[in-house]
Amino acid sequence: MNREQLKARVAQEAIDYTRERLTPDAVLGIGTGSTVNHFIDALRCLRGQFAGCVASSEMSAERLARSGCNVIDLNEAGALQLYVDGADEADFSRRLIKGGGGALTREKIVATASDHFLCIIDESKRKVRLGAFPLAVEVLRIAVTQVCSTLADLGGQPHLRANFRSDEGNPILDVSGLDFSDPLALESEINQIPGVVANGIFARRPADQVMLASKSGISVY
Ligand code: 5RP
Repeated sequence: MNREQLKARVAQEAIDYTRERLTPDAVLGIGTGSTVNHFIDALRCLRGQFAGCVASSEMSAERLARSGCNVIDLNEAGALQLYVDGADEADFSRRLIKGGGGALTREKIVATASDHFLCIIDESKRKVRLGAFPLAVEVLRIAVTQVCSTLADLGGQPHLRANFRSDEGNPILDVSGLDFSDPLALESEINQIPGVVANGIFARRPADQVMLASKSGISVY
């Protein structure tokens, strides 16, 4: 199986997982990315069995609508039963790096609003230690230079993502070289920098379960 097939495989397994837990009044949170796209496409088979979905990006919202799902604004949704999303990296404590697709801010909001976060990944994403994947940091435009300088003081090398704006209209910095020995502390420290909207470390709100597809099958931890 190649990587794309592993993504499709774990998404299908997540559909089975979701089906077993769905109630007619359930609202699901739905992430963003190529792995979740497989999940969204397969969600068509569960149409009519739950109340609706909150999407973490405009792209996912459009795809969900095409799949026949009722897309609900988070402010109208109340508690979300389950959030399903991918990740760029996941460690053994289910802490994540996310934001490769630039949807990190909404993803963090929707994940935090959800009772249960199921992260679906292929085996290439599981890491003993986070930090090989550049960390996405969403910033207000006025603060780009200042935030870059503070991130450099923390040991990072920030690069402005070219030709990109988030769904909120903000630029994103991709930062390599940061010290990930304490992801929770790093997440908080970056959040304190004036002008930072959100960063892609999910340690304060880690996944509750990681479902991983490898060539030998599916495992959950
Ligand atoms: C988007 C994300 C994605 O979950 C992450 O980039 C993984 O994407 P993919 O499933 O395409 O590998 O955080 O902001």
